[in-house]
Amino acid sequence: MSSGKPAVRLALLGCGTVGSEVVRLLHDQADDLTARIGAPLEIVGIAVRRLGRERGNLPVDPALFTTDALGLVKRDDVDVVIEVVGGIEPARSWLTEALRGGKSVVTANKALLAEDGATLHDAAAEGGADLYYEASVAGAIPLLRPLRESLHGDRVTRVTGIVNGTTNFILSSMDATGAGFGEALEEATELGYAEADPTADVEGFDAAAKAAILASLAFHTRVTAADVFREGMTGVTAADVASAKEMGCTIKLLCLAERGADSSGQESVSVRVHPAMIPRSHPLASVGDAFNAVFVEAEAAGQLMFYGRGAGGTPTASAVLGDVVAAARNRLAGTRAPSESAYAHLPIRPIGEAVTRYHVSLEVADRQGVLATVAGVFARHEVSIATVRQSGRDEDAMLVIVTHGAPDANLAATVEDLRALDIVRSIASVLRVEGGA
Ligand code: NDP
Ligand code: HSE
Repeated sequence: MSSGKPAVRLALLGCGTVGSEVVRLLHDQADDLTARIGAPLEIVGIAVRRLGRERGNLPVDPALFTTDALGLVKRDDVDVVIEVVGGIEPARSWLTEALRGGKSVVTANKALLAEDGATLHDAAAEGGADLYYEASVAGAIPLLRPLRESLHGDRVTRVTGIVNGTTNFILSSMDATGAGFGEALEEATELGYAEADPTADVEGFDAAAKAAILASLAFHTRVTAADVFREGMTGVTAADVASAKEMGCTIKLLCLAERGADSSGQESVSVRVHPAMIPRSHPLASVGDAFNAVFVEAEAAGQLMFYGRGAGGTPTASAVLGDVVAAARNRLAGTRAPSESAYAHLPIRPIGEAVTRYHVSLEVADRQGVLATVAGVFARHEVSIATVRQSGRDEDAMLVIVTHGAPDANLAATVEDLRALDIVRSIASVLRVEGGA
């Protein structure tokens, strides 16, 4: 289809899982995209690491490939740079070069945005250029644009999400089959969900990066990955999952970003990623398999839920293409996307002040007075007990205690004191309980 207008010229950095699907969608939907934008999109170069790599029958001229990403970014005939390589450097150098030079940038690079988004936003402001990154959080789910634009008339109070597909698959499988973490991880690897090195997923680094990006947008404050309290899910056992079931709960790796007062009464932001029990009646409890979902609470809008595929080449490419269309339209209209909104400068609340409920399992000597001693430790640290379950184990007993809401620091001090008691054989697990009920 001819629009009569000159093409918007794209430089694609990276042609792996996501990049190759970007190429395919650009080819397959070329006519529709031209009609929607009012001008065609044209790939003028593709930077990769290995020129000789087998790339199937990608519908693209092989002469477009180069290993000189920076050279490609600097070219005068590039309007929009799409970065789907990942990592901090050299991606940061490429993107700052592009933005300062007035080129629009579309990126899926959550690691870079969470570590040093400020540098990219500053470069975008300097160059008067667009910086879009919808694909960086929750893959295909339109989530960042609603936070960045649609909800700008409202006041977001909390964002709770399942933003890592690999760990959601593992925890859903543990819940469904009673399998342990290792067995469920093996299944996730066999099915191609988990990467060869799953550390970033199972230790919560991937979710923490996404949490930082979400919190920055929700609370108009720069939040980096280093500001996010992070605890992975490798310690979740089959026994924890069974115990959660008995309570009518399931375990999810949650990302939680909340606005609230700190201990001195100042408005602040708390951002954390950790496994937590949530009631089966909670909307996030039914999010299974490798799906993602994010629950946003805002003062006027109330509760909103975003759900869909958070990973995979084609779903992620969908989000990338949406951003490319927006950037191309802006260029043609001579306008810009809304720039970064970070005016609030809210301080980060320490994890010790985060108030949640806890599920504590401990193995104790089955003797008279043990329960009272254990309860006394909780009371000393002002952690109120909601329920206690005890099951016998020869001369020992397993105590499962669920608390009312208490600050994290109080619970940490409670656990430390419990460990020091000779009647406590071991603390089997400490899990947070979120989501009411
Ligand atoms: P891949 O590893 O599949 O692809 C990376 C691409 O970058 C490859 O084409 C590789 O080249 C190229 N590359 C690596 N180093 C360089 C370099 N120095 N110069 C030029 N090209 C280079 O990654 P994905 O496609 O999975 O991910 C890309 C980005 O998208 C990451 O930021 C990731 O976090 C993000 N993302 C990915 C999702 C997913 O489901 N995969 C979901 C959401 C976001 P070569 O082909 O020659 O190896
Ligand atoms: N490893 C990530 C996940 C990919 O499992 O969700 C998407 O960011």
